[in-house]
Amino acid sequence: MEVVPLESDTEVATLAADTIEAAVRTRPDAVLGLATGSTPLLTYRELIRRHHAGTGPSYARVWCFTLDEYVGLPPGHPGSYRATIARELTDPLGIPAECVRGPDPTEAHLASAGERYEAELKAAGGVEVQLLGIGSDGHLAFNEPGSSLGSLTRIKTLAEQTRQDNARFFGSSDEVPRHVLTQGLGTILRARHLLLLATGPGKAHALAAAVEGPLSATCPASVLQLHPHATVLVDPAAAQGLERRAHYREVYDAKPAWQGL
Ligand code: GLP
Repeated sequence: MEVVPLESDTEVATLAADTIEAAVRTRPDAVLGLATGSTPLLTYRELIRRHHAGTGPSYARVWCFTLDEYVGLPPGHPGSYRATIARELTDPLGIPAECVRGPDPTEAHLASAGERYEAELKAAGGVEVQLLGIGSDGHLAFNEPGSSLGSLTRIKTLAEQTRQDNARFFGSSDEVPRHVLTQGLGTILRARHLLLLATGPGKAHALAAAVEGPLSATCPASVLQLHPHATVLVDPAAAQGLERRAHYREVYDAKPAWQGL
């Protein structure tokens, strides 16, 4: 795992945007794995800014797969991850709605939703770069503590902490759905490059556990330790709990110029 301590959340967003653009330039039909939540928003704004400035790559042939989705919201609800990702990224980049896929939360088909999503991901050729945030309890996508490290896309029940954390998108925690569909930790591990972003003091504890703690379902994000190509971009507030922070920075500063993230 490559941990990159950066000077600010803006630097995190710049480097994340550079990485996503590089993947699309290398492979114009790349499959991008998109995350929701507040953390990737600065990255999304930077990608949109570059797109509007005419300096970004063409997104005409990319495919996007989201990590997770709430169950039980009416179609088109602004808090659904499908609506959120369209509003915050894919519509402004001009990516057609049919090229943006997510787990299908339709109640009547819930039992097969996970299997169908896994099949769609496989048929698309797998994810090139998977953007990830981390929950304050160490969750990845909606894989709460205790999730199997080998899990695939399935229905999950949210932890109370997560419903409280996400209440800001709904008005109150009572309005946050109890159930979600989420890619499993095993699904996430299949992406070719994992790019975890962590910003703000609320993530310091979970990030330290994920990066320097034991590999454990108790901290689902620690599953990154198993991946051959995982990059963690972190701002000073989120890096506070990292014991080897200075070493990570030395390694990054000594990185050969030819070696990208
Ligand atoms: C949410 C999402 C995750 C996200 C995490 C952190 O519940 N399902 O994919 O990474 O929690 O969110 P935020 O970036 O808003 O802190």
